[in-house]
Amino acid sequence: MRRLIINVIVFCKSFLLFLKPHVLFGWLIKPFKTWSNIIAVSKWISEQDKSKMFFNDFYSPKRDLNKRYLVYESVNKNLHLQNEEINYLEFGVCGANSFKWWLNNNHNQNSNFYGFDTFEGLPEDWATFSKGEMSAKMPVLEDKRAHFLKGLFQDTLPNFIKENKIDKTKRTLVHLDADLFSSTLYTLTTLHPYLKKGDILLFDEFNVPNHEFLAFKMYCDSYYIKPQIIAAANNYFEVAFIIV
Ligand SMILES: C[S@@+](CC[C@H](N)C(=O)[O-])C[C@H]1O[C@@H](n2cnc3c(N)ncnc32)[C@H](O)[C@@H]1O
Repeated sequence: MRRLIINVIVFCKSFLLFLKPHVLFGWLIKPFKTWSNIIAVSKWISEQDKSKMFFNDFYSPKRDLNKRYLVYESVNKNLHLQNEEINYLEFGVCGANSFKWWLNNNHNQNSNFYGFDTFEGLPEDWATFSKGEMSAKMPVLEDKRAHFLKGLFQDTLPNFIKENKIDKTKRTLVHLDADLFSSTLYTLTTLHPYLKKGDILLFDEFNVPNHEFLAFKMYCDSYYIKPQIIAAANNYFEVAFIIV
């Protein structure tokens, strides 16, 4: 019986592909993908263990971008990071607003802060933004702990890793603020071997269903990991996880 069911499914699938359904229905790919991932975000939220969260404003009817600092502050204070020696890696620096916050709120002179960006804007279209938008001048900061790596993450991160810049004796904070699915998935999978228990992942556009959320979900599913959520603002737009 099982063999018969498999044969029917295989026949139907192959016949469907033969009919080239994308010619008539290709326009449905994006809305179906978005709906499916919105439902996945909602299911994911309901499945999280919220008992260990330092901050969570779900549900708030209004988005307030300044709340991202409440996420940073709650993580920084509750994990006592202010004076800890850390590696801070930010992917998507642009105007360096979040980068400067972490730099100014960590007082350990042995911490290292690395910011990765093309500084020529997004490498592909995202939401209502076109490729090349969000370009910014590479920041010049007086703090000697701050370093910037200009170029695509896909070009700069492999060398950075080869040069052993990630000090495994320190806690690492990875701030993923590149918006894009491709950039986020690339970064998470490339950094995976260098991440350890206690490290922090921060996201800035997490609940966007086809981008950061999808990248994070694919990353967790592929590596069989389940980071613990510790803070969320703006209905999971900005989130923080700790690796357990
Ligand atoms: C939303 S902005 C970052 C905002 C910044 N964190 C802040 O607080 O001001 C996103 C940035 O990600 C960068 N980006 C996205 N994908 C990238 C990639 N693959 N390589 C390098 N930069 C990338 C874009 O150039 C853009 O500047």
